[in-house]
Amino acid sequence: MTHAFQTGIIPEASSDALFVTFNLVRDRVAQAKQALAASTGIIQAIEQQFPDASLCASIGLNHAVWPLFDDAKQPSGLAPFPHFKNQSVEVNETAGELVFHIRSMRRDVTFQLANALYQAFDQSLEIVEEVSCFKYLDNRDLTGFVDGTENPEGEQRQQVALVGKEDPDFEHGSYLNLMRFVHDLEKWEHQDLKSQEDVYGRTKYANEEYPSAQKSPHAHTKRTSLKDANGQSLEILRHSMPFASLTEKGLMFASYSKTPSVFNLMLESMIKGDEEGHTDHLMTFTTAHTGNAFFIPPTSWLASLAD
Ligand code: HEM
Repeated sequence: MTHAFQTGIIPEASSDALFVTFNLVRDRVAQAKQALAASTGIIQAIEQQFPDASLCASIGLNHAVWPLFDDAKQPSGLAPFPHFKNQSVEVNETAGELVFHIRSMRRDVTFQLANALYQAFDQSLEIVEEVSCFKYLDNRDLTGFVDGTENPEGEQRQQVALVGKEDPDFEHGSYLNLMRFVHDLEKWEHQDLKSQEDVYGRTKYANEEYPSAQKSPHAHTKRTSLKDANGQSLEILRHSMPFASLTEKGLMFASYSKTPSVFNLMLESMIKGDEEGHTDHLMTFTTAHTGNAFFIPPTSWLASLAD
């Protein structure tokens, strides 16, 4: 059987994104199954109706609900969001058993798809959180720095993000990690330019990487640039985007990976730090309000749920 991947995983950055997390209503699993089976067709129909919108989407499930849909087999890496803490920062799993991640160049089209999918689930979903995100300037986070520069490119994107032959039943699935961060922009903006740049290990306006020797061990890009035992870079495909109201501003962090272990190692390196306890100083300007780990199944698995 060929396993196609969901459309929301690979494409380049969009100008609009919507993240919706849900809990599953336990006595309506049958309705949710039918909706998951129909979802690929629903996404395709709206995509074809608005060809200029570059609409794409992923739908995922977490470890708690997976067995309700498939009690025979499970993706090998499906597990709860990890728990890490240091003296001032703690991250943990928060509520959310299913997710819609919808991206496009038109907010009206994003909304249409979200609404159509939600209707299809026929009251089998309870909304946990709905976060509407936008492209800010030239793909900057609200701290003013370009986000996504070191993402894998071209062929590499699929190699990094999609499950391969190592888990044949779930080939072309992907592991999605979400964290909603709320920034303390007042504190951030009190820093001078050089201090802000040191936090990332990159320059703000020209968006250039610091030479390695000049990066602080606390720099965000130092803490997240990891290598495996063979010296190969460990990578994830990030689709993080800002959200904002006049009272709350932050980043919806989103990353796709062929295994959740890469994300987990990066987060551990940020929060627990290295052997000398160097933690990520970016975390002193922002707070994680959520932590979710989902599996985005291949479309063949979704189709197999039909009656
Ligand atoms: C790099 C922002 C959280 C993983 C970056 C960069 C920015 C940034 C501006 C530099 C440009 C780039 O390559 O994208 C943020 C913000 C975060 C956040 C504002 C939260 C508020 C995270 C988390 C992870 C992560 C939770 C993973 C656990 C990475 C990786 C890179 C990166 C892998 C590329 C490092 C490199 O190869 O140079 N981030 N990030 N980030 N971030 Fe984050």
